[in-house]
Amino acid sequence: MNQILKKQKLAENIYLMQVKAPDVAKNAKPGQFVMLQIGKKGERIPLSIADYDKNSVTVVFAAVGRTTKELAALKKGNSILHFTGPLGNPTEIMDFGKVCLIGGGFGIAPLYPIAKALKKAGNDVYIIAGARSKNLLFWEDNLKKACKELIITTDDGSKGMKGFVTDALERVMKLNKLDHVFAVGPPLMMKTVADMTKNRVRTVVSLNTIMLDGTGMCGSCRVRIAGEVKFACVDGPDFNAHAVDWDSIINRNKRYHEEEKHACRCGK
Ligand SMILES: Cc1cc2nc3c(=O)[nH]c(=O)nc-3n(C[C@H](O)[C@H](O)[C@H](O)COP(=O)(O)OP(=O)(O)OC[C@H]3O[C@@H](n4cnc5c(N)ncnc54)[C@H](O)[C@@H]3O)c2cc1C
Ligand code: FES
Repeated sequence: MNQILKKQKLAENIYLMQVKAPDVAKNAKPGQFVMLQIGKKGERIPLSIADYDKNSVTVVFAAVGRTTKELAALKKGNSILHFTGPLGNPTEIMDFGKVCLIGGGFGIAPLYPIAKALKKAGNDVYIIAGARSKNLLFWEDNLKKACKELIITTDDGSKGMKGFVTDALERVMKLNKLDHVFAVGPPLMMKTVADMTKNRVRTVVSLNTIMLDGTGMCGSCRVRIAGEVKFACVDGPDFNAHAVDWDSIINRNKRYHEEEKHACRCGK
């Protein structure tokens, strides 16, 4: 069992949870994720590692469906049955030069450890963090400390630049010759980033496909990368954005939408 050391509401429907998990924490690296299962009957869900210290791992999640809503209802002192990780390959960290990190929605959280590591490696780090509205934004102070410039975008203009993260990326690319772009967030956002940077800047994305076991056994997270089948959980989650078959990912992610509408899982 893994005890919840801290729980905090960061923004509308977005929660931080610091979980005691020394074995996961001591091996964790930026870009990796955990699979958690709240209790015996619950399902396993993947969440990115948003921070870690010697004893604990922090996750940040949007309460969107059954498991994440159950998780959001837990309190400090409660425990989580399984908290497995770190899973996936760490994000590539080296001195690229000028790097732009882009996060949309819950994708803002995993940018934090990645930005800290890239800054430490000598990069000039620009971060673009986007959300639909200002009440969905979080961790501005953390992100500011981890980069040279933070650009906030909101679809409705309630904070920062009005528009999408890709509008801000266009501006950053006009003002700077970027050497590397990294994006994490909704697949459509990452696809748009990939389309914009193709033949211009090396771009890596962190794919959030449906994952069940997280260990390469079930095939649920399979994706086509440069025409080859890969499993996002063990071969990724990071991939060359320009080699990803985006249409198949977007379609596969929709495949349980009908079932997910039924909280009872009766199959109707
Ligand atoms: C590598 C990875 C890292 C992720 N990191 C985060 C994170 O840091 N914060 C965060 O809020 N979310 C993250 N997600 C998405 C998160 O796993 C889903 O939001 C969660 O599984 C939803 O479960 P649910 O029962 O609450 O909702 P459901 O109603 O079951 O699903 C809602 C939506 O979540 C997605 N989803 C459902 N089940 C899974 C699954 N087993 N694997 C992946 N996606 C699923 C689908 O798009 C679905 O339509 C990550 C996903 C992956 C693959
Ligand atoms: S989640 Fe099962 S193979 Fe990747």
